[in-house]
Amino acid sequence: MANKIYIFDTTLRDGEQAPGMHLNVKEKLEIALQLQKLNVDTIEAGFPISSKSDFEAVKEISKAIKDRSIAALARANFKDIDAAGEALKDAANPVIHTFISSSDIHLKYQLNKTREEVLQLAAEAVKRCKKYTDNIEFSAMDATRSDKEYLAKMYEIAIQNGATVLNVPDTVGYALPLEYSNLIEYLLNNVRGIENVIISVHCHNDLGLAVANSILAATKGARQIECSVNGIGERAGNAAIEEVALIIDTRKKDLDLYTDINIKEIARTSNLVASMTGYLIAPNKAIVGKNAFSHEAGIHQDGMLKDRSTYEILKAEDIGLSSSKLILGKHSGRHAFIKRLEDLGFSLSDEELEKAFERFKSLAEKKGAINDNDLKAIVQNEVREIKEYFKLNYYHILSGTNIKSTSTVGIEINGKLFEAVHFGDGPVDASFKAIDQITKIKTKLIDYSIEAVSEGKDAIGAVKIVVSNNGIEVLGRGISTDIIEASIKAYINAMNKIIEKQQLEINN
Ligand code: KIV
Ligand code: ZN
Repeated sequence: MANKIYIFDTTLRDGEQAPGMHLNVKEKLEIALQLQKLNVDTIEAGFPISSKSDFEAVKEISKAIKDRSIAALARANFKDIDAAGEALKDAANPVIHTFISSSDIHLKYQLNKTREEVLQLAAEAVKRCKKYTDNIEFSAMDATRSDKEYLAKMYEIAIQNGATVLNVPDTVGYALPLEYSNLIEYLLNNVRGIENVIISVHCHNDLGLAVANSILAATKGARQIECSVNGIGERAGNAAIEEVALIIDTRKKDLDLYTDINIKEIARTSNLVASMTGYLIAPNKAIVGKNAFSHEAGIHQDGMLKDRSTYEILKAEDIGLSSSKLILGKHSGRHAFIKRLEDLGFSLSDEELEKAFERFKSLAEKKGAINDNDLKAIVQNEVREIKEYFKLNYYHILSGTNIKSTSTVGIEINGKLFEAVHFGDGPVDASFKAIDQITKIKTKLIDYSIEAVSEGKDAIGAVKIVVSNNGIEVLGRGISTDIIEASIKAYINAMNKIIEKQQLEINN
């Protein structure tokens, strides 16, 4: 009988720690509902002490999803653990995931504590979790750069105090596959009581080894893999859930492992997370990149025509990609429109559907054929955006080869119109400066990119910008067939997110 690998999804926690990412409570809930369909075993819904919105997200997800374990992260202190316990109050299967560092580097530079002191904190933390739940995951942060004997001692103490899952994070993505799997083997042989708990692996992808490390560890006895959709996460991210699931599924006989992941939901889940986070997927990304099932070279195409098995080990249909490329247009009805959105993984409220349909019709008037990418852009940018503290009313641009670019922008704040005019180094710069004058938010532009969402001269331009405010980065997005308008919308979107994230007062 093959062994089950439990899938612990951390898209909404470690995934959301990716630079510039910010999901609001509603977006997190929607992703969690899709993770439920994907059939992950545990959804790590957030880090409740870190922000009001993380606390709320854990709470809402705990209320809405009763047939999965819901986890919340907490450092090894009472305040964090109490916040996690409180946020998980309505969960049917709550898991508190508490952690403390175990490497000497972290003890010295981050915690400034002795090994003995840290063991004491670990013991007290796990004991405190018991006040709220019997499902306790304990992580020794930076486990892979820790002294093995000390690490084993820490895990033993965690078990003695009630931990049911021991997580072994490769926090900085430093380990090599053999090294990491040997560590799992070492712990299995040297931690008393380990046979009664689950060993979990949590690998970061700094050297591109997160998935390889996780799979090899599973062959040595780890029974839970922590991963995220599209591999999003801190720095280079975490092990990608779609890769972990497909490796185990494709090679199940050789690995003697299985997961309960519903493979058919992979494309839909990946799509939803990419469009909600604005973290687009590289075309050559394994499993979910747009080229993952395309064959370009003549010899490959020839082989494929003769028999798919010549060059294909996976089928697009298996992960839920539809082979039909249905194009919608201005004559398409509401029914076809809703069906297509459902196929893309979106579940909208009636009000949102109404707004999306209206926007779709007006774009179809301008542009004719509307493809999947256009639809995703509409839903993400025009329908489910966060609260509009600042709303674009109009803009005028004066620009050319021999004149200084000037932008006049009108923005509504609480229904009142505020206007500003500014020069700039090009129309986008002038517009951003005019907007700054109105919002009075000090930001630094970290990144600006534009891409055509679809093909052709009338393609929608999607602008993505990252700005920082008081050390916090946010991502703003805007779409339009006019790239200046898309840029202005993206910038205003970022300002709205700053207000929401930092809970700032508007100074107008
Ligand atoms: O990478 C890490 O060490 C973590 C811990 C909180 C488990 O994310
Ligand atoms: Zn991590």
